[in-house]
Amino acid sequence: MKIAVIGAGNVGGALGKLWAGKGHEIMFGVPDPKSDKLAALLQSIGGKARAASVAEAAAFGDIAVLATPWPAAEAAIAAAAGRLAGKILVDCTNPLAPDLSGLVIGTDTSAAEAVARWARGAKVVKAFNTIGAANFADPRFGSAAASMFIAGDDAAAKSVVSGLAAELGFDPVDTGPLLAARWLEPLAMLWIHLAFKQGLGPTSHAFRLLRRQV
Ligand SMILES: NC(=O)c1ccc[n+]([C@@H]2O[C@H](COP(=O)([O-])OP(=O)(O)OC[C@H]3O[C@@H](n4cnc5c(N)ncnc54)[C@H](OP(=O)(O)O)[C@@H]3O)[C@@H](O)[C@H]2O)c1
Repeated sequence: MKIAVIGAGNVGGALGKLWAGKGHEIMFGVPDPKSDKLAALLQSIGGKARAASVAEAAAFGDIAVLATPWPAAEAAIAAAAGRLAGKILVDCTNPLAPDLSGLVIGTDTSAAEAVARWARGAKVVKAFNTIGAANFADPRFGSAAASMFIAGDDAAAKSVVSGLAAELGFDPVDTGPLLAARWLEPLAMLWIHLAFKQGLGPTSHAFRLLRRQV
């Protein structure tokens, strides 16, 4: 797949690198594609990824991934200049308060629903927000894979994103319509609280949905 990764930090950099390793074509869309930071990231990926403006990356991707800080999300989507319409847009953001004390919006709406309003015509799928990026390369905890909770209104789009999560070793869990992001973003807050306020750190824990036949 041709994947546009908008934002090349912890989340975007990790996903782009991992999917490039799986044979996908990656183009990062960032405000400064010629920065030293991007050059170092591209070098670490070994020539299997490129960097460009957000608009160029959005035009390139069959699918796009939004991995910017929440305060930058609306501007990043605006910079895509309508080129996300009709495409899958994976929203990884969490609307965090700057001091990680909580979410700045939530439960009666969600970041994902705001993203869907801003990226008119895109098939928005919430994913990759409920576990720290340092686990993307290895989502196995003992013998169990971490769940990757996914929400969205387009079944085919969710199936594609589930496939991309499974390629990284996650157990994809379809949580229903995009509205379910109202519950996934607080779940991310719990993960962050455990990691950084309760002292578990960034790589020791994950959520997994347990199932049984009933
Ligand atoms: N960190 C995690 O473990 C984790 C896990 C799950 C979800 N999340 C969520 O995922 C999102 C990204 O987190 P992160 O930790 O990857 O952030 P980060 O390391 O700060 O990276 C953010 C990236 O977005 C870029 N950016 C900023 N403004 C932009 C714009 N207008 N257009 C395009 N790109 C822009 C930044 O570029 P510059 O460096 O040039 O500013 C940087 O490459 C956040 O919403 C976060 O809550 C984070």
